[in-house]
Order: sequence, then C-alpha cells, then structure tokens
Amino acid sequence: MKHLLKMLDLTSEEVVDILNLADQLKYEQKHGIPHKLLEGKSLGLIFEKASTRTRVSFEVGMYQLGGQPIFLSSKDMQIGRGEPVQDTARVLSRYLDGIMIRTFEQAEVEALAEYGSIPIINGLTDFCHPCQILADLMTIREYKGKLDGLKMCFIGDGNNMMNSLIVGALKTGMSISVACPEGYEPHKDVLDFAKEYGEKFSMFRTPQEAVVDADVVITDVWASMGQEGEAEKRKKAFAGYQVNAELMALAKPDAMVQHCLPAHRGEEITEDVFEAHADEIFEEAENRLHAQKAVMVRCLSDK
Ligand code: CP
Ligand code: NVA
Repeated sequence: MKHLLKMLDLTSEEVVDILNLADQLKYEQKHGIPHKLLEGKSLGLIFEKASTRTRVSFEVGMYQLGGQPIFLSSKDMQIGRGEPVQDTARVLSRYLDGIMIRTFEQAEVEALAEYGSIPIINGLTDFCHPCQILADLMTIREYKGKLDGLKMCFIGDGNNMMNSLIVGALKTGMSISVACPEGYEPHKDVLDFAKEYGEKFSMFRTPQEAVVDADVVITDVWASMGQEGEAEKRKKAFAGYQVNAELMALAKPDAMVQHCLPAHRGEEITEDVFEAHADEIFEEAENRLHAQKAVMVRCLSDK
C-alpha cells in the first residue's frame, strides 16, 4: 500500500490485512513485545484543524514503532501563508519518509500524493476519515467476532464519517443503512460506489427506519470542524436525528454504539446511551493507535 488517501482506494483484502496487523500490534503492545518496525523513519504530521486523538495516537504510535513523529501545525508552516501544496510536497519528500495530513479539502491530500514522492496518510478531510473507520471496523470485529453479515447503521450528517463508513462497511461484507435529513446526504462518489452493492446499502429519512435490527449504531457531530457557523441551522435540521434510548430499542438487543469523538451529549447522542456504551466507544478511541500503527507499517515499510 503506497498511500492511505481514502477508503475507496483500498481493496477488501487490504482492509482485512490492516485489521489483522492492527490486532497483532495491539496484542504485542499489551504483552510488552517490542515491534520497532519503523526504526530510523520520520513521519510529518500536518494539522490544519484541531485534534486530540489523531495527533496523540500518531505521535505515540510512531514512537512505539521506533520512528520519529514531527508535529507540523499549518499555523506555523509556510503552507499556512500560501506556499503551494505542490511545493510543500516536493520539499517535505526530501526530509521525511511519510506525511499524515488533516485538512479541509480532499484535493489537497491527493495533490500531496501526486507531487510528493513519499507515502501520504489522510488524517481527516471534509470528505473522509479513513484512519477512524479502520479503528471502528477493528473495534466492531473485536466485540462481535466478525464483520461479514452484520448490519451497521449511521444516523446523522452525510459527512466524512458517513462517507467513509459506507465504503468501509460494504468492503468488509457488512450491510449499512443511513438516515440523514434532505440536503445532508453522503457524497455522490460514495453513493455511486454503494449502488454496486444493491440492497446492502439503504438510505432513509427517518432514523427509526434505518436502525431496525442494526448490530452497530454510529453517529457523529451535527456540525463538523469548519462548519461552526452553521451550528444553529444544523441543530434544527438534525433535531429528529438523535441516538437515544427509544431509537436504540429498535436496534438488535445487543447492538453496540460507536462514536468517533468528540461527542456532543444531548445533541447527536444522549448522555445515557453514551455512558451505557462507553466501554465500546473508548475501545474505539484506543484502537486508533493500533489501526494507525498498522497503516504506518504498511505505508512506510516493506513489512
Ligand atoms: N476522532 C478523531 O479524529 O478525533 P480528533 O479530532 O481528536 O483527532
Ligand atoms: N465529522 C467530524 C469528525 C471529527 C473527528 C469533523 O469533521 O469535525
């Protein structure tokens, strides 16, 4: 695997391979078995948006793999003053062994990969969040013992999370149903991809229809980073799209809940549902570390 730009680029086999390696790295870390697979390698971490989990899990993960992470806030970089991404890519390719980038436009991530000569890992764009989805799939497989044949349900905005979960679920044999208000649908490229999977993908206007018999229920904030100015308008649009106890009663009795975090309790999810599923949600957060270590190994080493 050269880059991780979006879930659409991965084959089903590559997804499963990353999940298997992530499980192995998690086991080794828990048992004190060192795995310095990236000794001597440096990974730049460019952030044009805020982050808690992505930054810390990439920095710690790179350290545990024997490599060097370098945090690069766009506020302090020339890219933040208008240096073209094409030039930044060609310069950083001469110092680093890989780049993780969190930014707004997917096109910027694709341009880094096109103009640079080192692996690029997408740490979230407005279009997708592949590192998060790999951690989600890892967590679901850990709790349920499999992915194939399960039903995932996503309630809320057709944002980076919904876009990536649709692709990740379908590529791993799951079916997925989503519920979103009019005007907040997933990206067209994702809908085109999902069409190939027939009835395994369904989109509803009401969460009550989407959640029936779900094995895992997932939601995310109503206003993503960069959409803060639309928060009030979005609160109105998503008013009926809360994951609460009444909605969960329509899912399978043993349904799990996932949330990429940060969560807005009382908006997309109630406090009681969040706390009842806190173990699964924080395992998901932990699995960012293990899944990303697997991605870094696959992108930055020949192993
Ligand atoms: N879920 C996630 O990506 O969290 P951060 O924004 O804290 O990195
Ligand atoms: N959809 C959210 C995810 C945060 C991890 C955002 O883009 O802000």
